[in-house]
Amino acid sequence: WWWSLLAVAGAYAVGSLSFAVIISRVMGLSDPRSYGSGNPGATNVLRSGNRKAALLTLVFDALKGYLPVLAALLLAPRMGWGETTVAAVGLAAFVGHLWPVFFRFQGGKGVATAAGVLLALNPLLGAGTLATWLVIAYFFRYSSLASLVAAAFAPFYQLLVWGPGPTAIAVAVMSLLLVWRHAGNIRKLMNGTESKIGAKAAHAA
Ligand code: G3P
Repeated sequence: WWWSLLAVAGAYAVGSLSFAVIISRVMGLSDPRSYGSGNPGATNVLRSGNRKAALLTLVFDALKGYLPVLAALLLAPRMGWGETTVAAVGLAAFVGHLWPVFFRFQGGKGVATAAGVLLALNPLLGAGTLATWLVIAYFFRYSSLASLVAAAFAPFYQLLVWGPGPTAIAVAVMSLLLVWRHAGNIRKLMNGTESKIGAKAAHAA
């Protein structure tokens, strides 16, 4: 029991590594919280005009969701962990991204990290959700809209194809939190002021 709690705490700590901020700092770019949407995420780092930094943010933010779940899955047989612990580890990494202990609890919206968690929890669910994101992003060019639609579908994919259980609950909770964190984006989408993928911010480095 204590070990599963430790795993969840560890995943939360890993999720708290805000790679948009870390990578921007390492590469000598402006802090992503200071321009564009102000969100520490790959979409906003792209608004700096630095594609490499955005890609690295995307990959590392996804890995911090993927690797803790993978580690939990590999340890599960030896530790006697069930689906609940593995799902809780994924949720903890995601929560770490939203409220990072190392960054005054001011984190991002969780899209890349959720993608990493989903890919590890259920690779087919992850692939289906990513495909949903790509289709919407391709046709509408809004990262936020693609994330919102993908988040809306993910719990239903899990529920309808694999049935209820701890994974479905974790996916639903992640989706709800993700949509809630996009409240500002929803407002901008509705009044037509949301920025399209790749559009540069006015004063990014
Ligand atoms: O990755 C988060 C994305 O869905 C929206 O980001 O910077 O446009 O608020 P942003």
